Formats: sequence, C-alpha cells, structure tokens
Amino acid sequence: MSTFSDIDDLVASLLDGLPWPAILVNEAGQVTFINREMKGRSRLPEVIAGTHLSELYPQYHAALGGAPPWLTPQDTEVNISPGLLERVCVRRVPSGACLVITESSQREFDLGSAQTARLASLGFMVAGVCHEVANPLTVIHSMVQLLQSGGPLSAETLERGLANIAANVQRVLNITRTLNEFSRGGIDQRTLLRINHSVSEALANTQQRTLFRNIEVTRNEDENFWVMGVADQIEQVFANILLNAAQAMNGNGQIFIFTVMRNPLQVEITVRDTGPGIAPGHLPRLFEPFFTTKPSGQGTGLGLAICNEIVIEHGGSLRAMNHPDGGACLIVTLPLHEQRP
Ligand SMILES: Nc1ncnc2c1ncn2[C@@H]1O[C@H](COP(=O)(O)OP(=O)(O)O)[C@@H](O)[C@H]1O
Ligand SMILES: [Mg+2]
Repeated sequence: MSTFSDIDDLVASLLDGLPWPAILVNEAGQVTFINREMKGRSRLPEVIAGTHLSELYPQYHAALGGAPPWLTPQDTEVNISPGLLERVCVRRVPSGACLVITESSQREFDLGSAQTARLASLGFMVAGVCHEVANPLTVIHSMVQLLQSGGPLSAETLERGLANIAANVQRVLNITRTLNEFSRGGIDQRTLLRINHSVSEALANTQQRTLFRNIEVTRNEDENFWVMGVADQIEQVFANILLNAAQAMNGNGQIFIFTVMRNPLQVEITVRDTGPGIAPGHLPRLFEPFFTTKPSGQGTGLGLAICNEIVIEHGGSLRAMNHPDGGACLIVTLPLHEQRP
C-alpha cells in the first residue's frame, strides 16, 4: 500500500524526467517541487519550503485564476510578456496540482509587426519633430533676416547673431542625429546577446566622456543572461540611461547596475544613481518624445522615448522610479532567451 508521500515522490521523479518545465503545488498553493527542466530554465535554487506560487511564478498564478480554481484541471494560455506566450496544463495530483508548461512560443520579432510598431512610433514622433525643428528654424530665419537687412550692425550684434544661428543649427542636428540612430536600427540584425556584455559595451562607450570621470560604477557581472536582440539598440538603451544618470548627478556620484532574473522568463536590469531623483510630476511624462528638463542644446528629450520603443520592440518594458534611499532607478525588463549557445 503506498502512502501519499510515496505517490508524491513518484510524481516528482516522473516530472523530473519530462522534457517540459513543471511545478508541483500543494492545496494551499505552495510550491513543493520544481522539476529539472524548470530549474534549468529559471536557475532557481531549491524551492524554499512554503513559498507560494504567487511569489515564485506570479504570471502563472494570475493566469490560472488566483485561488482554488487554478487547481482545476485546465489548459491555459499565459501571456508572459508581449513577446512570450505559454501553454500551461494543470492536472490534479494527490497532494494538490501539477503545472506543466507544454508550449512556449517566444514570439520572435515578427518582422511585420515590429516594423509597423516602428513606423507607428516614428509617425507619433514626426509631429513632435516638426514642432521641435520649427522653433530653432524660426530663430535662424529671423537672425538671417536681421543680418541680411543691410542696416548697420555692430560687431557684437553680428557675433551674437552668428552664435545664435550656430546654436540653433546644433539643436536641429541633435534631433536629426538621434532620430537617425533610432530609425537605422536593423530589425534583421538580431542575435543572441549576453545582457551583461551589452551593459559593458554601453559603459565602455559612455565612460570615455569626461562627465564620467568622477562617477563610480558598481555592478554584478556574475550571471549570464541571454536575450535575443539587436546589439546596437540594446547598447543604445543602456548608454542613454547611463548618460542621463551621469547628467542628473552633474558628473559626481555613483551608479549601480544590477542584473537579476525577475522570474523564470525575464531578466531585469536596474540602473540606479545617487542623483536628485525624478520629480514625481515628471515621472508619467518621462518617456514622452521631447520631454526634457534640460536646457536646449543639452537635451532633446528623445533619449528615454527611444529607449522605451526599443525595449518594447524587444518584448520587454522600461520603468522609472525613485529609490527609497534617493536617486533614480531605471529598470529594463527583457525576455530571457531559452537556448544558450
Ligand atoms: N537618472 C535620472 N535622474 C533624474 N532625472 C532623469 C534621469 N533620467 C532621466 N531624467 C529626466 O527625464 C528627462 C528625459 O530624459 P531623456 O528622454 O533622456 O531626454 P534628455 O536627456 O534629452 O532630457 C530628463 O530631461 C530628466 O528630467
Ligand atoms: Mg537623455
């Protein structure tokens, strides 16, 4: 006669042999076992006794209805992130339920929709660009008219007029350069990337600036998280975030970069600085194209708008918040790629 625990052991050892990720949950919703496939994918340490499904795998918990209903046998599609869809099969076992992830389709950048999204966001930006470019051009136009008027001009007026034109030309150039970098990003150049390598590349590029001379960067580099993406774009995201952090601190302070697994399917990269943080009123507008608090010439307000677009195109998300101990936190979440090379 077998006891329940014998049966559970049997179920566990069967699950361990499966080629699919699987989780055992007791009646209370606590995770009692994760199989080898799931462990391999999530690289979680052993399950801590008593950890609830909602803590360990909030997406599955939510998708399966939260409380007891999720113990009902079902096949449910779970939208893990914009780029990832999974099918979860729930079956009863003597001590609770067993969840098996039978299908996982990383929605590869669908060329069509990625391009449509890019076009849509470019369209959205164009309206802003026209406005942003029109202002300096108006200034340039009236300066040129003044210089052409043939009236007597002091050397000082001439010098100021030309400086004004130069500054406004620079403004336009900054905008067009930033937009050009964004639109150039090739959709077909995606490769398997080690996320910490992308961060290192972005750091290497930004740290050359004198602005970074008195900034100390601390990071954890021990983990290898692989994502599928366009290397230049992912680096651009981190370079923009790092530059903003350095600017917010006026070149003096610390930056912390932490890469952790948010859940079995997503990697989260947090960039925190020791600057003044973001005014609560500005938080909702941060990713708006042309939202900037920097003097003209220094900021185009396109940095985070573009970062946001890139991250979304990669099936991830970008969030901004203030750290309880001060400073701003920019958090990039990206879908982990299942295969490591
Ligand atoms: N680390 C940060 N700390 C404080 N404020 C920030 C930080 N990063 C971004 N911001 C705010 O968000 C605004 C928009 O950033 P961004 O889109 O990169 O445009 P820009 O840097 O050209 O102003 C900045 O002007 C700044 O007010
Ligand atoms: Mg910026």
